[in-house]
Amino acid sequence: MKSLVSLFAALGLVSAVASPALAADGRQLFLDNCAACHQPTGKGVAGAFPALAGSKVVLGDPKEPITRILNGRGGMPAFQNDLSDTEVSAILTYIRSAWGNKAAPVAVPQVLAFRSNTRRENAKASLQAH
Ligand code: HEC
Repeated sequence: MKSLVSLFAALGLVSAVASPALAADGRQLFLDNCAACHQPTGKGVAGAFPALAGSKVVLGDPKEPITRILNGRGGMPAFQNDLSDTEVSAILTYIRSAWGNKAAPVAVPQVLAFRSNTRRENAKASLQAH
């Protein structure tokens, strides 16, 4: 139940702040791309994958989590070729408001600002179809 509430909170924030293009489902994207390591609970796996619940990186300046997701670090893969700016912003907005986390949503242009490659929205626009 708690996670459902968080989801609705995240979606509410997303629609309040961002452009209509931001229909990506941050929770589902998190489950698909991140939860294998960080766990659906956001608690991670001790000694292997850091918790995102309560993480200073997640809750702090958006630059840090954005660049880690795009470029990877240590045992974490880079997602810059797999996730669009919209998807990264949706995932970050979700993980910054799930599991008791409370930090501001991350908008698409903030993600774009830290990209070093040229991948953009277009290819993933069809994701909104469902
Ligand atoms: C294959 C396992 C794996 C996957 C998949 C993965 N991560 Fe990570 N993640 C890690 C590891 C390992 C670290 C620690 C890296 C380091 O700093 O050495 C990490 C660190 C992080 C951190 C920094 C946390 C902190 O407090 O230091 C964030 C934020 C993060 N991951 C978010 C994500 C998001 C969002 C996704 C999905 C898009 C994701 N990760 C997918 C393994 C993974």
